[in-house]
Amino acid sequence: MRKKVIAGNWKMNMLPNEAMNFINAIAPVANSANCEVILCVPYTDLFYSLLTVQDTKIKIGAQNMHWEEKGAYTGEISAEMLKCINVEYVIIGHSERRQYFAETDETVNKKVLKAIHTGLKPIICVGETLEQRENGETSFIITTQTRKALEGVEKEQLNNIIIAYEPIWAIGTGKTATAEDANNSIKEIRKEIEKIYGKDIADCVIIQYGGSVNKDNCQELFNTSDIDGALVGGASLKASEFEEIIRSAN
Ligand code: PGA
Repeated sequence: MRKKVIAGNWKMNMLPNEAMNFINAIAPVANSANCEVILCVPYTDLFYSLLTVQDTKIKIGAQNMHWEEKGAYTGEISAEMLKCINVEYVIIGHSERRQYFAETDETVNKKVLKAIHTGLKPIICVGETLEQRENGETSFIITTQTRKALEGVEKEQLNNIIIAYEPIWAIGTGKTATAEDANNSIKEIRKEIEKIYGKDIADCVIIQYGGSVNKDNCQELFNTSDIDGALVGGASLKASEFEEIIRSAN
C-alpha cells in the first residue's frame, strides 16, 4: 500500500517570517495526518524552515540544485550544501526550470544521480505541453522523460524517489487534468518503470499529480488507483487551503 505524499512547491514566494508562520499554522494538521507532508521552499527559507519543522512531521525540500559538487558556478547551490543543513528532498526538472532555465532530460538525469548519491530524495517532474498533448504525444513524452531521468538509477534507489506528473498546460492555469486522465498518465509512467525495474518496484514508486490542484479538486484525484498525492503550487501558499488538501489525502 503506497502512502500519499503532499508536497507544496512555493516557487519564488514566501519570506522567512511567512515561511515560519505557515509551518507553525499547518503543523498540527500535518502531525496528525496519515500522508507525508513536504514543503519545497526557496533557498533563503530553508534554514528557517528546517528550524521551525523540528518536532513536527513536516519535511523540507529545495526546488533545484546543481549536479557538480563545487566550483565556479556563480549563483548555484550544490547537493552537498542542501544535505549538510539537513534538507531531505529536492525538486528536479520542474517544467518552469526546463522552460525558463534551459534544463534538459540530460541535466535532469545528472541532477537526479547527484541527489541520490548525496542522500537527497529527488521529486522528479515530468509532463507534456499543450501542443504535445494535442498531437497525441503525451504518452511518448512522459515515458521518455521518466526513462531518461532514471538512467543509471539502481533498483534499490527507487524507494527514495518521487515522480510528479505535471502536465504543463495545467500548471498555474486553473485547468486541471481530469482525475481519469491524470490517473491514466500516471499508470503509463508506472508501466515504464515496470519495464525497467519490474512490477514489484513499479507498484511501490510514489507518483504524484501536479497542476492546479486545490481543495476542491484534490479529493477526486486522490480517489483514483494510481495518484499518490500531489505537488501543489498556488494552493500551497495559503495554510488553510493546504491543510484541506492534506486532510483529503488521509
Ligand atoms: P500549480 O503549480 O499548483 O500552481 O499549478 C504546480 C507546480 O508547478 O508544481
